[in-house]
Amino acid sequence: MGTLTGRVALVTGAGRGIGQATACRLAQEGAAVIVNDRDEQPAAATVALIEAAGGRAHPVIADPSRRPAAEQLMAAAVAAFGALDIVVNNAGTTRDAMFHRMTEDDFDLVIAANLGTAFHTTYAAMPYLRAAAKAEIAATGRPHHHRKVVMTASVSALVGTIGQANYVAAKGALIALTRTLAREFGPFGINVNAVAPGFIETRLTAAKSAGDALGIPEEQRAHALAMIALGRFGQPSDIAGVTAFLVSPDADYVTGVTIPVTGGQPGGM
Ligand SMILES: NC(=O)c1ccc[n+]([C@@H]2O[C@H](COP(=O)([O-])OP(=O)(O)OC[C@H]3O[C@@H](n4cnc5c(N)ncnc54)[C@H](O)[C@@H]3O)[C@@H](O)[C@H]2O)c1
Repeated sequence: MGTLTGRVALVTGAGRGIGQATACRLAQEGAAVIVNDRDEQPAAATVALIEAAGGRAHPVIADPSRRPAAEQLMAAAVAAFGALDIVVNNAGTTRDAMFHRMTEDDFDLVIAANLGTAFHTTYAAMPYLRAAAKAEIAATGRPHHHRKVVMTASVSALVGTIGQANYVAAKGALIALTRTLAREFGPFGINVNAVAPGFIETRLTAAKSAGDALGIPEEQRAHALAMIALGRFGQPSDIAGVTAFLVSPDADYVTGVTIPVTGGQPGGM
């Protein structure tokens, strides 16, 4: 039996990178996993990985950065496995530019992908998290088990990162939202925490060529590596492991915190 046997988890942006590793890890711990992504093929690939390892997964293709899509995502998620216990708000992206050159589109897209998805997905989960706990409290005096929400912030929001004003605004808001929701949801046994990844090797941090929307220039990558105490970039599994801990019963008395997962980066240790 894994730590999450009998639980149902939803991971947004689970088609690639950190989200894929997290979905696979939660399935390995015994959870049935809803694999959300806005892109169909990557979501199908994650479901195939989980099923090949003997786990249970179901894809839901949606971009939950607006309320109606988040509600459709949630309805499809609950229809698949009949309940929901864990929400990992992982979807996010970057559109880096110096502040004086940042377009309104760069701002809107990054706020929607990082903050909008988490805000609306968590809202849409309320009937399955808060209302379910409330009914259990009415029946027995306490929720049957802790339910969990994890936000994917970034160490960028803790230290401030040049060229990422839109991204740090969104991720900083997620950290503030984590604290507020931890207070609101605490009476219902719903824990809300955040992970703040440092430099994790995915397409967001791959070496960037001129004209690429995603990625980081090679000299910035070398500088980032030099600042990491453990001397290596992080892997998606490094974040997945910390999220797996936060959503497990071992972390039932942890709420409202943001855990930097950076390998020991200044500002993230
Ligand atoms: N890679 C890093 O170093 C790093 C550092 C700090 C924080 N993060 C955060 O971790 C999360 C995952 O990043 P990653 O590096 O794995 O990126 P990634 O691009 O490899 O994967 C992100 C996935 O999210 C999906 N997605 C993006 N916007 C979406 C939306 N609106 N609706 C549904 N799906 C959406 C993408 O299709 C993609 O499959 C993001 O929130 C990112 O900001 C990453």
